[in-house]
Amino acid sequence: MEGFSLKTKGAVILFFLVLLVFALATLHTSDSVYGKDSAIIEKGKKVYKKYCIICHGEKGDGKGLIGIIHRVEKSGLVWYVYPRDFTVGVFKFRSTPTGCLPTDDDLLRTITNGIPRSGMPSHKDLSLEERKAVIAYIKTFSKRWVEEEPCDEVIEAKMPKWVGTPESVKKGEKIYVKMKCWECHGYEGKGDGPKSDKLKDDWGDKILPFDFTTGTLKRGSSPENIYMTYITGLDGTGMPSYEDSIPNEEDRWHLVSYTLKLMKRVK
Ligand code: HEC
Ligand code: HEC
Repeated sequence: MEGFSLKTKGAVILFFLVLLVFALATLHTSDSVYGKDSAIIEKGKKVYKKYCIICHGEKGDGKGLIGIIHRVEKSGLVWYVYPRDFTVGVFKFRSTPTGCLPTDDDLLRTITNGIPRSGMPSHKDLSLEERKAVIAYIKTFSKRWVEEEPCDEVIEAKMPKWVGTPESVKKGEKIYVKMKCWECHGYEGKGDGPKSDKLKDDWGDKILPFDFTTGTLKRGSSPENIYMTYITGLDGTGMPSYEDSIPNEEDRWHLVSYTLKLMKRVK
C-alpha cells in the first residue's frame, strides 16, 4: 500500500510538473511571438499612417480622404476603382488558388509595384523592412488572417517558346470563344461584352471588364502575369479562375497568345 501511494504521489507530482512545463512553454512562445509581432505591427501602423491611410482609411475600409472624395464624385476612369477595403480580406493578385488568401510575397509585389489603372502607387522607395511591416499591419484589418493560413501557391508559370505564334493565337481564339470571355470582355476585347455594364465587385461597386485594346495590365505586363491571372482569377471582381475549366497547360498558354494578339503585342 505504502509503495503504491508513493507511486501515486510521484505520478501526481510528475503530472503537475509536465503541466507546468507546458504552460511555461506556451506562455513563452506566445509571449515572444506576440511581442515580436506587435513591434512589427506598430512599425507597420506608422508606415500605413504615412503612406496608405489617405486612400485605404484609418479602419482599412477603403474610406480614406481620397476614397471618400472619389466616392462622392464617382467620376474619372483612373479613379474608377476605389481604394481597397481590407476588412473583407479578399485580394485580386495572388499566386494562390481562387478563394485563398494571398502570400506575403504576393502582397509585397503589389505594394512594391503598385497597381496600374487604379491609382494605387508604387512604393518601391520604402525599405523592405517598412513594406514587410505594413503588410503585417494591413493583416490586422480582417479576421481571415487569424482564422486561415494562405493556401499553397499554384504551379509557377513557365512560358513555352511558341507563345505568340500565329498557330497558337488561332487556338487561343477558339478557347476565348468557348470559355465565353467575350460575355464580359467583348468579341474584340474592348471590355464591352453583353454582361459588361452589369458587373459589380464584392464590395458592391460597379466594375468594368478589362479593355484589351487600351489598358495596361494591373497584375503586371509579362505573359507569365497573364497566365497567373487565368489560373488564379481576380477574386472579388467577377473575373473567374480557369484552373479547373482549362486544365490543359498548353491551352492556357494559347489563351495567353490570343490575349497578346488582342493587346496588339503580337501579330
Ligand atoms: C492613391 C491611393 C492609394 C494609396 C496611397 C495606396 N493605395 Fe493601395 N490601393 C489603391 C486602390 C485604388 C486599390 C484597388 C486597386 C484595384 O482593385 O484594382 C488598392 C489596392 C491595394 C491592395 C490590394 C491588392 C490585391 O491583391 O487585391 C493592397 C494590398 C494595397 N492596396 C496596399 C497598399 C499599401 C500597403 C499602401 C501604403 C504603403 C497603399 N496601398 C497605398 C489605392 C491606394
Ligand atoms: C464575368 C465577367 C468576366 C469573364 C467571364 C471574364 N472576365 Fe476577365 N475580367 C473581368 C473583370 C471585371 C476584370 C477587371 C478586374 C479589375 O479591373 O480589377 C477582368 C480582367 C481581366 C484581365 C486583366 C488582368 C490585369 O492584370 O489587369 C484579363 C487579361 C482578362 N480579364 C482576361 C479574361 C479572359 C481571357 C477570360 C476568359 C477565359 C475572361 N477574362 C473572362 C471580368 C470577366
